[in-house]
Amino acid sequence: MKSAAELAAEQAAYWKGRGGEGWLASYERIARTVGSFGKAALEAAAPAPGEQVLDIGCGTGGTTAELARAVGPTGHVLGVDISDVLVEAARAERVDNATFVVGDAATHPFKPAGYDLVFSRFGVMFFAEPDMAFRNFQRALKPDGRLVFVCWRTPQENPWGMVPVRAAAAHLPPMPRPGPEDPGQFAFGDRARVERILAAAGFGTPSFAPLDQPIWMGGNVAEVLDNAGRFGPLARAFADATPAQIEKAKEAIAEALKPHESADGVVLPGACWLVRAAAR
Ligand SMILES: C[S@@+](CC[C@H](N)C(=O)[O-])C[C@H]1O[C@@H](n2cnc3c(N)ncnc32)[C@H](O)[C@@H]1O
Repeated sequence: MKSAAELAAEQAAYWKGRGGEGWLASYERIARTVGSFGKAALEAAAPAPGEQVLDIGCGTGGTTAELARAVGPTGHVLGVDISDVLVEAARAERVDNATFVVGDAATHPFKPAGYDLVFSRFGVMFFAEPDMAFRNFQRALKPDGRLVFVCWRTPQENPWGMVPVRAAAAHLPPMPRPGPEDPGQFAFGDRARVERILAAAGFGTPSFAPLDQPIWMGGNVAEVLDNAGRFGPLARAFADATPAQIEKAKEAIAEALKPHESADGVVLPGACWLVRAAAR
């Protein structure tokens, strides 16, 4: 079993390297995929003029810019992300009332009781020690502040993630199975675990709203295949595979995705939690 320090170093290396680069290269397509979940989270967060906001795991700063627009010139948003390559892209957007920091959000010394809202779109599932991270966010919030984030539910409820991975697995070197508490995109699928983490950090009782929406994966199967392996579990597996194994894996993915292709593109079900909690 890997130590927390090893898991954290693995995540940091991934997002600073192949994961961040793949996310950036595919961002236009990703934005279309995650946009509606982010919109629901932003509506629930209701950022108001003059508020101070933290955007955790802000990536290329798409939601940071939206938050900054909502809080206006008298408010401010701090986007934090561990990936230099993604923060560089976020800074290039030059949003007046937003600043960005490259760092580990779990340990970054945020101003205590300095924020009205801690927000994240799919940026909170990658902490090796989530109790420590969420304690850090709770300390950063004003006593009447709020936490709002969106995260994926279980892999079983997210065929967009599992259908390609299951199809490819037989042709690739064995993929490590993450432990139930290991960081990763589906690490917050278990609602009871998230409740435990938030309670331990001192947050008020959270609410969980299921968001079930179709995930657009690309215009057609060929386009999805072009992007396959850029990030997520397949990126790690493709990195260790031979070209012949990758080709076989892609053929299997194409076969598995064909039934989900239509004039609207390749679309599979997706399922998230919209989580809200008061700071105390
Ligand atoms: C799935 S992406 C989401 C990016 C962005 N929120 C969006 O919706 O476009 C996850 C983000 O979390 C960041 N991340 C992972 N671990 C982190 C950590 N310990 N501290 C800060 N950011 C982290 C990654 O670099 C990546 O940008």
